[in-house]
Amino acid sequence: MGNQCVIIEQFKFYMRHVRATPQSIKKADCLVIPFFSDKKPDVAFLSLDPGDKKYIATLAGPMKGEYECAQALLPYTLEKKIILMCLGLRTAWTQRKLVIASRKIAQACKSAKTLNVLISCVPLRVSSITLEKTCEILACNLEMGSYEFSQYKERQPHFIESIAYVYSGRSTCDAAVQKGAIIGQETHVVRNLANTPGGDMTPRHLAAEAKKQGKKYGVTVRSLGEKEMTDLKMGGILGVSRGSSEEAQLIIMEYWGAAKSKKPTVFVGKGITFDSGGLDLKPSSAMDEMHLDMSGGAAVIGAVCAIARMKLKVNVIGLIPAAENMPSGQSYRPGDVLVSMAGKTIQIANTDAEGRVILADALTYAERYSPSLVVDIATLTGAACIALGRFALGVCTPDEDLARAVCKIGEVSGDYAWPLPMWQEYEADIRGSVGDILNTVKSREAGATNGGMFLYQFAKKFPRWVHLDIAPTMTGSSDLALARGASGSGTRLLIEIVRSGL
Ligand code: BES
Ligand code: ZN
Ligand code: ZN
Repeated sequence: MGNQCVIIEQFKFYMRHVRATPQSIKKADCLVIPFFSDKKPDVAFLSLDPGDKKYIATLAGPMKGEYECAQALLPYTLEKKIILMCLGLRTAWTQRKLVIASRKIAQACKSAKTLNVLISCVPLRVSSITLEKTCEILACNLEMGSYEFSQYKERQPHFIESIAYVYSGRSTCDAAVQKGAIIGQETHVVRNLANTPGGDMTPRHLAAEAKKQGKKYGVTVRSLGEKEMTDLKMGGILGVSRGSSEEAQLIIMEYWGAAKSKKPTVFVGKGITFDSGGLDLKPSSAMDEMHLDMSGGAAVIGAVCAIARMKLKVNVIGLIPAAENMPSGQSYRPGDVLVSMAGKTIQIANTDAEGRVILADALTYAERYSPSLVVDIATLTGAACIALGRFALGVCTPDEDLARAVCKIGEVSGDYAWPLPMWQEYEADIRGSVGDILNTVKSREAGATNGGMFLYQFAKKFPRWVHLDIAPTMTGSSDLALARGASGSGTRLLIEIVRSGL
């Protein structure tokens, strides 16, 4: 019997992001006033009662700490709340802090149960970037901070209906706010897909969701089942999937926003819908979050949809090999040798290093698009978490200029990225004794690089290729002002890679 299929009702209504008008100021039930500890809050643009202005100044006076927040009902201007957020010192204000402050503002508005929020953007301006970029980051992170996964709960969270932005009539900010909102909202889709339990989010269900999402924005989506993958000799995906009673899928998303003659960028995302480890079973403490092991695939779905929704004049292909890694009498075994689509044989040293095995076939499939750039994204290794902690995803590519460029784009996007070495010396470690390539190395040294090196064996035909290991940033935490569970890591980075024209 199949699993009960939970249809994800993606957000029934999204938060509306609008430019502030006299009407929206009047309609707002909450005014968000960010200010620096070394400057008085600027409320001149709000037609408030002088008594309230004085009240705000008194409240803000003692507030000094970064992200310190106060909430109050205005005593004179009736039925309006204010949320004051202290940003610390003006001279210490950065884009990274803007990201966190925006999320915390959304969380404060939610807990204050406000419906129509008015926010003054000018104080949030980061001096190293434009007001437009500031607005985009604000809108995106207001969305990201407000996210909560409540699909399986009876009690639904409070929902903010609209946000009106005050940026003193700069109409170029309108478009920036909308772009930020799109990126934030598509990140919700990614987090919903990843957070859905493994019993419901099977490979076939992931494929159905990709089709549903893609259809909204003119992305063509199809998926190959096990029969078609057998014809293509995808021994990697089929090998990993053998222990599962769920059918594996290769999800293919195509967005042609530029002339077909222009070579596309191909994204390849790991779609392990549940990673038990297989016969090399994980301990239970390491297994409970493994429904998130399709986070790379989800990021690809969200990024392709966002790019299409923004109508970017680019060509982007998304490939998501989706399978479940389970132990059973049919499972692939340690010591087995799988024949990949590329013809290279993979000697399985550990069935828990399954991500790279399914990605190998998807990378080979990518060759038919003659891409100008291939980016794969995967929750690939626990070793990347040990190396980087929670704040950066790992970047692996032998092309060091490309690694530098990706890390720089990471900083712009808010998906912070950091390079791991990919020198030729590491290649010797993954040479197989029985097959061509080992899927993992016995020692625990350089685990993230080993994963990257394995994938590189299947990416040598591409002019440029980069692997993103998002295991470190797979989940949110309170210091990131993100709800627990899936963080949507890599979605913004993939979008920004394409937008930057890399
Ligand atoms: N999905 C895991 C990696 C992972 C671990 C992601 C923790 C997020 C959080 C991957 O398939 C895996 O199990 N990797 C092994 C590789 C090892 C057997 C070489 C690991 O990291 O331990
Ligand atoms: Zn694994
Ligand atoms: Zn895995």
